[in-house]
Amino acid sequence: EIKGLVFDLDGVITDTAERHYLAWKRIADRLGIAIDREWNERLKGISRTESLELILAEKPDCLLDAEEKEQLLKEKNAHYLELIAEITAADILPGISDLLEEAKSGGYRMAIASASKNAPLILERLGLSTVFDAVVDPETLTYNKPHPEIFERAAQALGLETQACIGFEDSLAGIEGIKRAGMPAVAIGIPVFAEWLPDIEVAATKDLKLEEIVRKVTMKE
Ligand code: G6P
Ligand code: MG
Repeated sequence: EIKGLVFDLDGVITDTAERHYLAWKRIADRLGIAIDREWNERLKGISRTESLELILAEKPDCLLDAEEKEQLLKEKNAHYLELIAEITAADILPGISDLLEEAKSGGYRMAIASASKNAPLILERLGLSTVFDAVVDPETLTYNKPHPEIFERAAQALGLETQACIGFEDSLAGIEGIKRAGMPAVAIGIPVFAEWLPDIEVAATKDLKLEEIVRKVTMKE
């Protein structure tokens, strides 16, 4: 029986995935590295440090020392913070507020499983700080997505087995993590799939129908 819902934040609750992309794009441009939105799919769900490494790997002759990398990470986050400075509840993605409300009144426990250190700030700006029963602190994790740890920890924080939760993600790394945690997975607007398939796919957040999702994953069991 499904009792909990575990949500990624960036690209699921709000459109910050686009802002992460724009902030990275500015860094990449400056380094003479071409990235576009399609290439960016691989950065979704990936930690700040690993994202920079993936970008730098596109230009093997671009050798930076630890200090230079640290500087770029700082700059990326500073630009990202500028881009999210004016976020309000109006930036909650279509259908999400209704879904959260329906889930609350349905008695589902809810958690955020985001790799972002900015997650608490964003939730506050969106006016959603009190909606979630748990927000996993990514600083306390040993592994990053696609490792299942963050989803296991989210279920644990809700006092539930992973099988009793549904995970919502917009990234390939996230879908893999959810599935490896033994959770049913809902994929939102992901263009391609590799090894790990979601249980349910929707094109956009407005297409999420809670009752239907719960019914489908329960039938699969
Ligand atoms: C999420 C996003 C990634 C981002 C990561 C770290 O997983 O999908 O694009 O790089 O969080 O975010 P942060 O805000 O800590 O740089
Ligand atoms: Mg995401």
